Amino acid sequence: MDGGWQLLGRPSEHQAILSALTDGGSGVMLVGPPGVGKTTSARTVTDSLRAPVHWAACTESSRAIPLGAFAPWVRLSPSTSRDPIAALVSAREALIAEPNTVIGVDDAHLLDQLSATLLHQITIEHAARVVATARSRETVPDAITTLWKDGYLTRIELDPLTKEQCTELVEKVLGGTLEGLSADVIWESSGGNPLFLRNMVEGALAAGNLTENNEVWQLRGPTAVPSGLVALIDERLDRAGDAVVDALKLLALYEPLDLDTLVELGPCVHGSWRSCVIVRSPRPPSGSGSSGSASTVIRTSSPSC
Ligand SMILES: Nc1ncnc2c1ncn2[C@@H]1O[C@H](COP(=O)(O)OP(=O)(O)O)[C@@H](O)[C@H]1O
Ligand SMILES: [Mg+2]
Repeated sequence: MDGGWQLLGRPSEHQAILSALTDGGSGVMLVGPPGVGKTTSARTVTDSLRAPVHWAACTESSRAIPLGAFAPWVRLSPSTSRDPIAALVSAREALIAEPNTVIGVDDAHLLDQLSATLLHQITIEHAARVVATARSRETVPDAITTLWKDGYLTRIELDPLTKEQCTELVEKVLGGTLEGLSADVIWESSGGNPLFLRNMVEGALAAGNLTENNEVWQLRGPTAVPSGLVALIDERLDRAGDAVVDALKLLALYEPLDLDTLVELGPCVHGSWRSCVIVRSPRPPSGSGSSGSASTVIRTSSPSC
């Protein structure tokens, strides 16, 4: 691998986003699990537009601040600096100053209420077009949900990559052919989630478990879990709660368990399904070298479920 990570084109998804922006609509709400490629797809499309684009990134910290998401566009004098309406007007003016503007809002489930109100106003007045991303299963501010429910924004669910897409991407990154068995393991373990796929491939390369033999790339040995992925899983487990973590511990010790046995574990398993930290996951193919527990724990918190 010489050139680092590569981007796989997702023409049908990108075309759907583009159409929602250009066919007279007010824009698009791109929804999907973490790591599925929402930000990458949305930015790829807005980068291709010949229009002014303003991207606002929402975070847990910005959510705590009124108008936090659009703070970079607020220009206030000392006399109006505490006035939320003045801040709203100021951000609005700056955001739509140029004609034909597109406003990108990344992780809109983390929008603060005032920013959500501003985005709602701008959208229903067709003052700018909008590309928003949001994690599925997260609560999005009411003002934003209304936008796609009332038909202002087209809601698009971004799916994980297919097996063919996964293999194509990995081969593009490696610059060579991937062995069939290794392609199966990589696809099953990543669930087609590009973030997991990237972490798996880069981790396996760094650990020397993904190597080229006779012009074919082979994955052998346990799948390494890079620190970035560990942090993502940690964050999801923190939010899942104690009952779900207890279910996961049992699963990690005894899996694979059949569904009836899991259901006997009670409400904590129900919560695990709901919070999407356990999934029906086939055993890894024998001979893949990956341990059942490791692959299931990763898949249990896979964003692709
Ligand atoms: N089309 C793609 N081709 C290759 N890698 C991708 C693609 N989309 C996403 N990725 C990889 O997955 C990671 C997560 O993508 P991102 O767009 O941030 O996901 P999300 O916004 O859904 O959480 C990115 O850092 C990128 O490396
Ligand atoms: Mg994102």
